[in-house]
Parts: sequence; C-alpha cells; structure tokens
Amino acid sequence: MFDKSVYVNRRKRLAEQMSGGLVLILGNNEAPANYPANTYKFRQDSSFLYLFGLNHPGFAGVLDVDAGEEYIYGNDVDMDDIIWTGPQPSVKDLAARVGVDRTAPFARLAEALRTAVSAGREVHFLPPYRSYNALLLEDMLDIPHASLKARASLSLIRALVALRSVKEPCEIEEITRGCNIGYEMHVTAMKHARPGEREQYIAGLLEGIAASRGSMVSFPVILSQNGETLHNHDHGQVLTPGRLMLTDAGAETLMHYCSDFTRTVPVGGKFSSRQKDIYTIVLACNTKAMELARPGVTYQWVHLEVCKVLARGLKELGVMKGDVEEAVAAGAHALFMPHGLGHMMGLDVHDMEDLGQVHVGYDEETRPIAQFGTSSLRMGRRLEPGFVVTDEPGCYFIPELIDRWRAAKMHEAFLAYDRIDSFKDFGGIRLEDDLLITRDGALCLGDRRVPITVNEVEETMREG
Ligand code: GLY
Ligand code: MN
Repeated sequence: MFDKSVYVNRRKRLAEQMSGGLVLILGNNEAPANYPANTYKFRQDSSFLYLFGLNHPGFAGVLDVDAGEEYIYGNDVDMDDIIWTGPQPSVKDLAARVGVDRTAPFARLAEALRTAVSAGREVHFLPPYRSYNALLLEDMLDIPHASLKARASLSLIRALVALRSVKEPCEIEEITRGCNIGYEMHVTAMKHARPGEREQYIAGLLEGIAASRGSMVSFPVILSQNGETLHNHDHGQVLTPGRLMLTDAGAETLMHYCSDFTRTVPVGGKFSSRQKDIYTIVLACNTKAMELARPGVTYQWVHLEVCKVLARGLKELGVMKGDVEEAVAAGAHALFMPHGLGHMMGLDVHDMEDLGQVHVGYDEETRPIAQFGTSSLRMGRRLEPGFVVTDEPGCYFIPELIDRWRAAKMHEAFLAYDRIDSFKDFGGIRLEDDLLITRDGALCLGDRRVPITVNEVEETMREG
C-alpha cells in the first residue's frame, strides 16, 4: 500500500470535484469458481484500490461530500474466520491505515444509502461489472439491475477518470515494476519458442513468473502461433518450425499495477525473409507511435499516422496499392490492422474500461471514429503528461476476413488481393510497449526494453 497521504489526497481531490451527495465505491467480493468456497483469486475493484487502498473482500467506501466525512463499511472477522483463514486487523485499524476514521459493519451501508435517498440526496455510484455488486446496488438503491449502467453517476465517472488518467510518480514506479516482470515473462517466452515445445507450457511459465514476482497476470495470457486471431487464448498447439509465435502478456504487481507487452518471434529463432519484411513494417509502426506521442496531440491522430506507416510498408511489398493517405482515409489498411493503436494502462490493463471506454479514451473534442478498425481504438483523446498508454500496432492476415472483403470487392483500389492471398498462411505480428507521456514526448516504461529488433530477438533466442 502507498503512504496514507496518497489515499487521503486522492479522496480530497475527488470530493472537490463533486458538487454534493454521497459517493459510493463498492469493493469486490470473493467470486466462486466451481462451488462457493472455491473462489477465483481475489481481485479488488481498481477504483476502490485507488481511493481506499485496502485489498480485502467485502468492503465499501463512502464519501459524504456535503459533510466532508469518509466511511469504510466492512465486517470484522469472527472466530470461525480466524480458525480457517487466520486473524485479521479490525476494519477500524485497516481504515486508519488509509486515513479513514469512520467505519461500520457492512449491513449499515444499506441503511445509510436509504436514509440519503429518502432525504433527496444524490448517491453517486459507478457502473457495476460484477453481478454480485449489481444485485447489491439493486437491493440498496431500489434500481433495477438492468438500469444501473444508465443510472451510474457521470460526474463521478468524469471526476475519477480525470484523477486516474494522470499517474503519480509512485504509480509510475509500480507500473515500471510490472514492466520489469513483463520483461522477464517475454524473454522467457522467447527462449522457449523452440520447435516441439507446447504453447501451453510456455503460457504456464509466464503465469508462474507473474504470480511469483507480483500478484498475477494482468489478463489471461495470449500466446499462439495463430497470432492473426487478436486475442487467442487457445494454447493447444505444438510449436512448428517456420511459424511465428505471438505472445501478448503482462503482469500485475502486488499493488495491482499492470504491464502489457506483445512480442512476435520466429519458432526456432530465425526470421524468414517474408517474416522479416512484415516484422520490419510493424516495428516501424511501433517506433513511429513512440516518436509522435507527446502532450497536445491526440492518440487518434497518432493511430492514423501509424496506419499510414503500415499502408506505406505494405504498398512497398505489393500487398497494398494506390495512394496511402487515401487508403487510410478509406479504411483499407484495417484489413491488416483491425484494432486500435492502444489503450490507457494503470490499475487495470485497459485502465478504467469498466467506467465506459468513451469516457476514458474520448472527450467532447475527440470523438470515436465509427469506421471499421479505428472504431476499436480505445484511447483517442489528447495526450497529457502522466498518461500511460500502450503502443501496439499489428499486421495480421486473417483468411476469413480476406475472403469476405475480396468477395465483396472491398477497397479494390488499395488492396492487391492476388498478392494478399499468398499471405493467408502467414499468421500475425503485433509489437506492444507501454509508454509514459512526459512533458515533451514519450518514454518506454521498464528498466530494460523487451528485445524488439530482429537482431535483439534472434540474439535472445540464440542465447536460449
Ligand atoms: N493486451 C491485450 C489488449 O490490449 O487487449
Ligand atoms: Mn494492450
């Protein structure tokens, strides 16, 4: 946990942005996996962690903005809990560690909320993403669960996004820690990408590194020779010479700050010339984003500039044709990169996505673009110092998508379908780094950059 003053200051700044009422931040509870007592690894709600710091199930935090009072609701352990799971500090002691001096049993929360509602006061809550908390809100606030998302507090969402978007130095230190674990995960994956190895074995090694150095992986490992499937969680294949292995994986530190890297390596350690051609283009895209990202520019603009680098490179290979600017404006490049350049990262790997992507990645000035491909861009708005965003361009040959577009004669002026067909067995390449926006540019986070150039990757794999 950070120093108490960090949480006190965050809550103070949040309350200053709210015009009144109660702010309710529900923590998470244990979630059963296959029977009630056999739970998934506990993961606290990130906004609760951000404001109240306590990594315990069954808590809620409340700010009474009008009275300037703060509360933590939660139950002290009883003798049965002590026997099975060990002694715990009291809720009062835990709350004191994060500067909250008012506590009450969890059952009192419903009472407090009902009293506020009947007095005509506003209760600000966030959109729930766990059904347990949705049911709890439905019970306590008398709002049907299907309406909770629409009734969530926009002013609270906006205030939290404003705070959480700009990372404090102590958060950057934690994210850097997460990146250093990610470094180890990816170098391990590279060294094990040998013919005959099972994808599942390598994925398991990565999970083990994340769990032994930090808390856990920041999202389920994506690792596959079928890298053209963007989020491929199937690890059922054995590595075959000549194929590429795409690994998209990151770690969560003990404080639950994330990293998120993607590397794509040749099974056996040597890129073929065709692989090198596409790899070099994706690397140029990744580098371009790093060069362009700085305060004042929108990430949507960076995304579109990167797409031009992709289209230009593919044109040089004879895969695309025509005018590059026009091709990107038309969205033809999205056949090869049907996703966005990146997302915010922090306490969530897709930071604050539960609060609504449009509130996190966009604002009144920068609106989402509906065109296929760019519509998947999670982060589009103007960059500010302290933002942490991912830089993750890719190039994929998705046979089903190629067939569909070809049959529909999509963007024939920009796509050389005969040439594209010869890449249908290629797979996909993505290269992802985590960027801190500084006062005048962008910094790649992590004490060491995960090997990325062709030479660095081949050298790392040779070292085995
Ligand atoms: N690394 C997975 C994602 O960004 O969606
Ligand atoms: Mn990512």
